[in-house]
Amino acid sequence: MAVKNEIDLRSDTATRPSPGMRRAMAEAEVGDDMFGEDPTVNRLEAMICEMLGKEAAVYASSGTQSNQMGVRIHCQLGDELLIESTGHIANYEQGAPAALSGVSCRLIEGDGGILDVGDLAGKIRPDNQHFPRTALVCLENTTNMGGGRVYPQENIDRICEWAHANGLPVHLDGARLFNAVTASGVPVDRMVRDIDTISICFSKGLGCPMGSILVGSKADIARARRVRKLFGGALRQAGITAAAAIYALENNLDRLKDDHAHAQQFTAGILKIPGITLAVPEVQSNLVFFYLAPELGTAAALSARLKERGVRINASGPQRLRACTHLDVTAEQVDTAVKIIGEVLSEGLGTADPAHASSPYARA
Ligand SMILES: Cc1ncc(COP(=O)(O)O)c(C=O)c1O
Repeated sequence: MAVKNEIDLRSDTATRPSPGMRRAMAEAEVGDDMFGEDPTVNRLEAMICEMLGKEAAVYASSGTQSNQMGVRIHCQLGDELLIESTGHIANYEQGAPAALSGVSCRLIEGDGGILDVGDLAGKIRPDNQHFPRTALVCLENTTNMGGGRVYPQENIDRICEWAHANGLPVHLDGARLFNAVTASGVPVDRMVRDIDTISICFSKGLGCPMGSILVGSKADIARARRVRKLFGGALRQAGITAAAAIYALENNLDRLKDDHAHAQQFTAGILKIPGITLAVPEVQSNLVFFYLAPELGTAAALSARLKERGVRINASGPQRLRACTHLDVTAEQVDTAVKIIGEVLSEGLGTADPAHASSPYARA
């Protein structure tokens, strides 16, 4: 459990609903969403369609659920999807494409989680009974394990043009779509113009307690709504949490730039500490991946020692850590965290117990 005054840089999912958000939730008008009668859910879905310039949307419980609804509607049993090798859909959703939809993932090496059309060329399986049918391209913006990178718009445009010319739909895992919009300055409707389905999380940088949404054409979303029920995710008086999402869209978008500034501030601070280097060429959003020199200890040991000092940062590899800025972390707390990292490393990591530092993103 998070401790009071802890500086929690593990994830933007650590955010708690603000008093204003809680008030909006308490006052939400609700109905039965399964009957299409929750006015707040309906308003959220309409708002997102308007923002993204798409026809329809369906509110979902989590990013995993809305991603997998996307996979299911675009693919049939035995199909294959194309995805960058670090992609969340392939690596961090418990094999759900296979488990829920009978779909295999073909992992394609990109750059920082980013693909370009040249990476995809030649990856569509020939029409031959030995092969799965290539059915879908999945992108992620911002990339998570790719390093918080932001897709160049030209890549998205080229990939969509290529995919559609080859009869493949494109699904975007936009768990942090508005971070990408903030960092790139590309308007959200332009960014997703050619993308078929988009999943967006409200429970990360936008500060909601839960909730995601899948956006696309009327036909795709009608099928996704059926899949949501099949996956056990149909909702009833969900206006209570949809109200949090509406509050976030109205109040928490402009401030994402502060999280990005804090990530830059954190980066500048840690790079002054001997033994720390950046694990990506540059920090582009709210995720900072960095390496600890092996002679100083392991990432898990540093994470464990920081925890003792009230700073939470997870290991994301033997020597790699990921820090994530978000709306519950202030500029002062960023400075304090940097100071504590410096102190802990200058004291030496000793025999800190790495068992306390497990991360869902840690890799062997
Ligand atoms: C890129 C990306 N996609 C999808 C998800 C899944 O979201 P959820 O935890 O709501 O299922 C996450 C969660 O961390 C993520 O980082």
